[in-house]
This record gives sequence, structure tokens and C-alpha cells, in this order.
Amino acid sequence: MEYKVAVIPGDGIGPEIVNEAKKVLDKVGEVYGHTFNYTEILMGGASIDVHGVPLTDDALETAKASDSVLLGAVGGVVGKDKWYELPPNLRPEAGLLAIRKGLNLYANLRPAYLYKELKGACPLKESIAEEGFDMMIVRELTGGLYFGERWTKEIDGTVTAMDTLKYDENEIRRIAVKAFDIAMKRNKNVISVDKSNVLDTSRLWDKVVSEVAKDYPEVTLTHMLVDNCAMQLVKNPKQFDVVVTENMFGDILSDEASMITGSIGMLPSASLSDGNFGLYEPSHGAAPDIAGQDIANPMATILSAAMMLRYSFDLDDAANAVEEAIRQVIAEGYRTVDIMSEGMTKVGCSAMGDLICERIK
Ligand code: IPM
Ligand code: MG
Repeated sequence: MEYKVAVIPGDGIGPEIVNEAKKVLDKVGEVYGHTFNYTEILMGGASIDVHGVPLTDDALETAKASDSVLLGAVGGVVGKDKWYELPPNLRPEAGLLAIRKGLNLYANLRPAYLYKELKGACPLKESIAEEGFDMMIVRELTGGLYFGERWTKEIDGTVTAMDTLKYDENEIRRIAVKAFDIAMKRNKNVISVDKSNVLDTSRLWDKVVSEVAKDYPEVTLTHMLVDNCAMQLVKNPKQFDVVVTENMFGDILSDEASMITGSIGMLPSASLSDGNFGLYEPSHGAAPDIAGQDIANPMATILSAAMMLRYSFDLDDAANAVEEAIRQVIAEGYRTVDIMSEGMTKVGCSAMGDLICERIK
């Protein structure tokens, strides 16, 4: 088959890690008989430099016309990069929000798991790390506080700001369906996270998720308050299989979950729309401090490409082969600097990409 992939290298380490992911996709193409045709798109700081805005309409149209999107990372350093002198709606991160909304990427899948070889990097007590964990956070991505009405103005001499949190039942239902579908392919356990002891949106969330659950009798649904969830993640992460939650809670909890893996350079993500369309990006950011040195860990981006193979192209065998190749290089002791430990072999970004390619057969 032939696939059209829009590629957004972005800022910082984005271009280097995306390069390695393309290398791996091309190797997959060779082995499994597919062709991936890439079209580059500018986004974030890279787009601001050329067009003055973080995402142009043309770029969005190119993304829409593709089968899927591969993204490196966007953003720079506040106070250092001139992008941050612009108003908030023209800064690099605004490009990310615009592409999420523009492509209707409402379901953000953020896996967090502990590789047994990297357990030492887990910041939790050994007795907890020993148990391991493997969860999928399903974050609603196009609603809630991020996209509600907001303003800052002076009212009777007092500067006041407002953000609004709104969800309708359809927005909740479609993300719940994604979460339950994913749970069916995993351990059939969904924990829905909200703040239903305070918020109306959470009470609606709770109700709609419970309704959706009726269509999935094999899946166990539990409701958990977000503050409790924050505690449970560090106390007993093993209890989580699929977590489904609204945009803002998902932003915070997915960072907490990635932190306890100790290896954020290993975590991919997918942002899905209806059908097979999706945008795939590493969970980590643009890391401008190490950009251009060939030391970034490309594995999260390569694993994101594997998620693309699985979720957008239904190429499960190829996705498994990529994931297996990553497990192999880790088991063989190859490490980028972010996950380096004593006795292991340190390699750079590009060498790591090559090692992974060699193991895809
Ligand atoms: C993320 C990031 C973004 C978000 C920022 C950069 C706008 O933190 O993808 O989690 O909050 O969604
Ligand atoms: Mg975040």
C-alpha cells in the first residue's frame, strides 16, 4: 500500500527525532512492501520564523489531505526565544492547539509503562517499581478549559480573568467509546477520572461514561476523583489499565504518569479523530537545550510511528515489529544519554535509529 504522511519536524530536537522515525518507517516499507510518501509541514517556532504564525491554513490543509501526521515537537524557551514575545495566540504552542482542533483530534492516547530494564529510572519505591505498570491514558483533547471562552479585562478597576469549562454529552460519549474500545483490546478495565463532587461537567461526564459502559458488559468501569487519582498513580500505578478523563485533568495526570516511568524519552502518543486519521508525536517536548547534538532519544517518536502503523493503517504486524525492535535494543543494552546507566552502551540519536532499523525483519 501507499500512504501519505504529513511530517512536522517542528522545533528543537524535533527534526532529528522525526528523521529517525522516517528511517524506521522506510525500513518497515521495505520489509512489508509499503510506501510512505512524506510531505513536510511547518508548525510552531519553525512556522513563525517563515510565516509569522505557528500554523498556516495551507499547512492545515496539507495535513487534512494526508492519511496521518507525524510530529516531532514544538516550542522553545520563554525569555530566550523571540517567539515568546508574541501574543499567546501566535506562540509555538498555539500551533499545536490549532492543529488538534482543526483536525478534530479529540482522543489523545498516552501510554505509560515501565520497561523492566529501565525500572531503575522509576522514581517510586522499589517495592512499587518491582510490580511494574502499563496504562493507557485517554485524554479528551478538543474541549474543556482549553477551548472554552476566555478573557482578561478590568472590571470596576480590578483586573479579572475568566476561563470556561464546558462539555456536551456527545463530546463525552465519543471519547468514552474510544476508551472502552481500547480497553477491549487490553485488560478490560476503565477508570473514569473526574471531579464530580464539585463540577457539573464532571457529573455529566460520570453519567455519560456510565451509559456507554452498558454497551461493554465485559469491561469493568470505576469512577475515581481526580485528586485521588493523582495519589493512586504514585501509590499503586499497577491498578490502572485505561484511564479516561477530560482535557485539563488528562494534561496533568499524563505528565504524572510519564514521570513515574522515569523515561519520558520512551513514551509515544496518538491523537485520533473519527475513522483512522491520527496525529502521532512523542510525549516529550522539543528539548531545545540538547537540539542539534545527535544525543536525543528518538524512541518515543519511533514508537509513535508504530502507533501510526497500528491505529491509522491497521498494520499491526509492522507495529509489533517496531516495538519488538525497540525492546531488543534495550535488552541488548543500547542507551541514549537520558536513560544511560552503568555498564550499558551509550549511542546517539541517529545510531539508535540505525540499530532499531537493523532489527526490523
Ligand atoms: C501537552 C502539552 C500541551 C497541552 C501544551 C504545550 C499546550 O502540555 O501536549 O500535554 O497542554 O496540551
Ligand atoms: Mg502537557
